Amino acid sequence: MARGSTIVGLDVGSTKVAVLVGEVSEDGQVQVIGFGLVPSAGIRKGTVIDIESTARSIEEAIEKAEQMSGRPIEGGFLGISGPTVSSLNNRAVVAVANPDKEITAEDVERVLQAARVVPLPPDRQIIHVIPRQFIVDGNENILDPVGMVGTRLEVETHIVTGNQAAIQNLLKCCERAGFRVQELVLNAYASGEAVLFPAEKELGVVVVDIGGGTTDIALFDQGSLWYTSVLPIGGSYITSDLAVGLRTPLNNAEEIKKEHGCTLPALTSESEIIEVSSVGGKDVYRVPKKMIAEIIQPRVQEILSLVKNQLEKTGYPGLLPGGIVLTGGTALTQGIVELATEEFQKPVRLGFPESVSGLTDVVQSPIFATGVGLLMYAAKRRGQMAKESENFSWRSMMTRIKNWFKDLF
Ligand SMILES: Nc1ncnc2c1ncn2[C@@H]1O[C@H](COP(=O)(O)OP(=O)(O)OP(=O)(O)O)[C@@H](O)[C@H]1O
Ligand SMILES: [Mg+2]
Repeated sequence: MARGSTIVGLDVGSTKVAVLVGEVSEDGQVQVIGFGLVPSAGIRKGTVIDIESTARSIEEAIEKAEQMSGRPIEGGFLGISGPTVSSLNNRAVVAVANPDKEITAEDVERVLQAARVVPLPPDRQIIHVIPRQFIVDGNENILDPVGMVGTRLEVETHIVTGNQAAIQNLLKCCERAGFRVQELVLNAYASGEAVLFPAEKELGVVVVDIGGGTTDIALFDQGSLWYTSVLPIGGSYITSDLAVGLRTPLNNAEEIKKEHGCTLPALTSESEIIEVSSVGGKDVYRVPKKMIAEIIQPRVQEILSLVKNQLEKTGYPGLLPGGIVLTGGTALTQGIVELATEEFQKPVRLGFPESVSGLTDVVQSPIFATGVGLLMYAAKRRGQMAKESENFSWRSMMTRIKNWFKDLF
């Protein structure tokens, strides 16, 4: 069988760096053929605080992914997060240039360029300009206006921006690790690509990726992004609290959280006891599981209510019938769906990145939502670029034929 083209996604998280290698077939299906997963160093709350250590973690993850996939990795798509990420919706309008009023790819490019013109402070840079819909002479909900007839082309876009220094520092780490960044992709956007169904995105849905240091939020409506933001809080906050509450080192608290953690004390009993070693390792305490749940529950509740407040501030007019989809490592906490259903008063489910094939037993975990989403985004972009170059060669052939006729007569 012919080999598909290779795509690579790099997710530099606050707790782990994941490099995913995929193969995309002609029909756009993604098969994961390798990954590298290492604990991250030098990243706090989604932002680089130490270039050397971050670059080293990226290098290690790349090496592992190369070994597993047997493919050399030179670059790929990079996920972006951090609390400085913000977004806005913007509109722009242009007159159709062609005298016969047929909309061309150049008109679309011009209107998208016009939509990029937003007043931004000098320390911010644009990450995405995502067209939500095109409007041709007042006719709404057009996804691809090229070839249509009209005089006035409008676009509604979602623009995502981030702090320039934070982005440049992450790019510097990638450069040091020998990873050439093809495109930046917002983490929450990627996670949404990986775990949401198209019907949910159409109805209105929020993906909440609760990682180690950040909680990334993306609201999708009518099939595309409507709102995005990043909160500087995640599972590490729960671990620290557990370490203090149980008087145990952070690595113990992390293990206890993953193995015995639960957000609903009512689901545990006083008689379920686990052993916890003290800081320094001299003593061993016996702690009821209920007590662990009593420490975890308010922290998870706090994260969820911050998300809720953030969503209330957006002014989104819809009802979100698609509900809330929780992903990221912290979504694995037992009982979180029940707690979130109560908090949001909406349907809540867990999001697993299931629409890829290949190494599914490992990568179909919420921890890989962003990584898998980066591959899916990369595959989509490949498809778009192939279509654009096809259109381009078709157009240049038509121009050549027109010129040939002109020369003849
Ligand atoms: N089974 C589990 N139960 C509870 N928490 C878990 C479980 N497995 C992982 N976690 C938590 O998930 C977090 C890591 O998730 P993830 O890998 O999505 O984060 P990240 O991408 O490194 O960080 P971020 O996206 O915040 O920058 C850690 O805080 C970890 O403790
Ligand atoms: Mg993450």
